[in-house]
Amino acid sequence: MEKVTRRTVREMKERKEKIAALTCYDAATARLLNEESVDVVLVGDSVANVKLGYENTLPVTLEEMLHHTKAVKRGNSRALLVADMPFLTYEFDPADAVRNVGRLVKAGGAEAVKVEGATPEILRSIRALVDANIPVVGHLGLTPQSILRFGGYRVQGRGAGAAKAILKGARDLEKAGVFMLVLEAVPAAVGRAVTRALRIPTIGIGAGPDCDGQVLVVDDLLGLTSAPRPKFVRAYADLRAESVRAVRAWRKDVKDRRFPGPNESYV
Ligand code: KIV
Repeated sequence: MEKVTRRTVREMKERKEKIAALTCYDAATARLLNEESVDVVLVGDSVANVKLGYENTLPVTLEEMLHHTKAVKRGNSRALLVADMPFLTYEFDPADAVRNVGRLVKAGGAEAVKVEGATPEILRSIRALVDANIPVVGHLGLTPQSILRFGGYRVQGRGAGAAKAILKGARDLEKAGVFMLVLEAVPAAVGRAVTRALRIPTIGIGAGPDCDGQVLVVDDLLGLTSAPRPKFVRAYADLRAESVRAVRAWRKDVKDRRFPGPNESYV
């Protein structure tokens, strides 16, 4: 199977083939996603709340992102491996951004990095990264690293002014050199307008069906996270309920001396 690169995703947009992307935080899941031909695996900073027990994505460190990126790299073969830059590691100083991103690429094996927002300072950092030959993915809409400013997880881009601001940000990001753009929790009409306006592919998460691809948090898709989940999630399994059932049954068997049996014992 051919390796997915930034060129592949651009060609997929051009031939209108949808891009399938999922978050991924460990080697075993990366192997599974590769076996099922998922095009893009994202080591999201959502690892903070999904796996590491933080309240939101703000506390996760570069070291923690590096640890998970290395794990995903070990299990990854075909998918394009994108890693999130953590909060306050790229926003203000382009030299800092290159140094920090460089760690995820050199030591972690990331093939691209994702950054949130399109302020003039962030655009400056993106240009420095692109000049340093590091492929960059943008992220607009409900950017979780801005949660303190937003005051909660709310749909963004509602109303003409807000929609226009997202479209402008998207154009600025494309001009600065990002090769793909994640749009999170925006009205479907905004997802469609941005997708039509850009030559680079858009990946939606709660941005309607017209984006060039879709991304979900893999634990949400598998039903491993607890409800209530965001409106844009469709859980394709209920692994949490199944896991509870299995742990309960095993515990009861241990207590009742039914595990291990002859089949699980050596002679
Ligand atoms: O960290 C994350 O999970 C993300 C999403 C786009 C899924 O950035």
